[in-house]
Amino acid sequence: MKLCVIGTGYVGLVTGACFSDLGYHVVCVDIDEEKLSVLARGDVPFYEPGLSDILRRNVREKRLRFSSNTMESVQEAETVFICVGTPEGPSGEADLRYVLGVAGEIGKSLNGYKVIVVKSTVPVGTNEKVRRTIAKEAPDADFDVVSNPEFLREGAAVKDFQNPDRIVVGARTERARASMARLYKSLTRATRPLMLTTPENAEVIKYASNAMLAARISFVNELSHLCEAVGADIKEVAKGMGLDDRIGVRFLSAGAGYGGSCFPKDVRALAQTMEQHGTASNFLRAIDYINERQKRSLVPKLKKLLPELDGRRIAIWGLSFKPRTSDVRNSAALTVAMQLQDEYADVVVFDPEAMDEARKVLPQVTYARDAYAALDGADALIVCTEWDEFRVPDFERMKRLMRGAIVVDGRNILDPGEVRALGFQYVGIGR
Ligand code: UDX
Repeated sequence: MKLCVIGTGYVGLVTGACFSDLGYHVVCVDIDEEKLSVLARGDVPFYEPGLSDILRRNVREKRLRFSSNTMESVQEAETVFICVGTPEGPSGEADLRYVLGVAGEIGKSLNGYKVIVVKSTVPVGTNEKVRRTIAKEAPDADFDVVSNPEFLREGAAVKDFQNPDRIVVGARTERARASMARLYKSLTRATRPLMLTTPENAEVIKYASNAMLAARISFVNELSHLCEAVGADIKEVAKGMGLDDRIGVRFLSAGAGYGGSCFPKDVRALAQTMEQHGTASNFLRAIDYINERQKRSLVPKLKKLLPELDGRRIAIWGLSFKPRTSDVRNSAALTVAMQLQDEYADVVVFDPEAMDEARKVLPQVTYARDAYAALDGADALIVCTEWDEFRVPDFERMKRLMRGAIVVDGRNILDPGEVRALGFQYVGIGR
């Protein structure tokens, strides 16, 4: 089967590379020629474990190639994936201009039956809009539009593609369903089923899944305030809750709030969709509100111990929105750094992978060469991302380097008792 993947962003590249690794012939299309030449060399423009190996292997074995010619690429393929971005519009809605733009181009290129797969995260009803957009360009063409949302996590995307919990396919015709089942055959097992459903269900499942995970995080973050007020520890509380099989332990870590390209955007987009359909959701708005407040709660915690930040040197460990990624989008660390700058603090940062990305949006801080260099002369340390290398630091070395002895642990990765016993003032989240 020949596949065409349009959009070589995160989702498109992982999808294209991983399908080629299953043996399909894949062409990845993008309008950015410079990016295409980087990819053709086998270089991945972001940090994603395992992806570059897969890319290189399949480029070498000629199953994977890159092109800027949409028409030719669509015409050669039996299945076409739309993987372009759906940025956040002014009211939080998903902006569909790229998805529908690509749909129009696909319509102009159709030369026989094809399955058009929408992988971009899109609000319910988009499958139908894509179908109409293609049909307008190609009124007599034979095609199906399928919704096949992705559930890839950054930093684990290759693994998630190869071992999905489930594959959701929303299709209206038997022909499209059969084609998608064939495409995913080698990834489907009894324990990781291919769920065939309607496009509307598939579209809602995607947003609902992300909103549910975000809800769990905002719930524990909300509870963390009560824990602080009454001397309880949110880590213990979450553990006790999670031991109930019905609840489970995952996605119950209180911290500096969720970030990334999905949760913040998807929660707001679902809220917006619900408003549009006359079913406004206070619940979704609260998830978002709690998260924004949480991201802003670290600096006030620091100020309780160090009220005057003007001229103080504050170190930040971790800039990415989570470990094992270079992505800083909606990262709590950015919020923290900007708050500190507003208070005229001298901000020094370190991240094992995300410093290049951070420089683009945070030019005014000092970038340290390693975690300990960031602490040189620092009055306090704020941990914003739970990279493994921050979990067991050399506290003696930290004490020697720092001017002050304050640690704000925004991800609850350190042991408060141990840190305090070494002479630091420790503040965590909900403990
Ligand atoms: C998420 C979804 O998991 C994925 O299925 C979807 O396709 C895209 O969005 P991703 O954004 O890569 O993936 O990150 P994820 O690992 O889910 O973490 C999201 C954020 O939640 C991170 O900022 C993380 O630090 C935070 N988080 C996660 C918590 O604060 N507490 C938790 O318990 C779990």
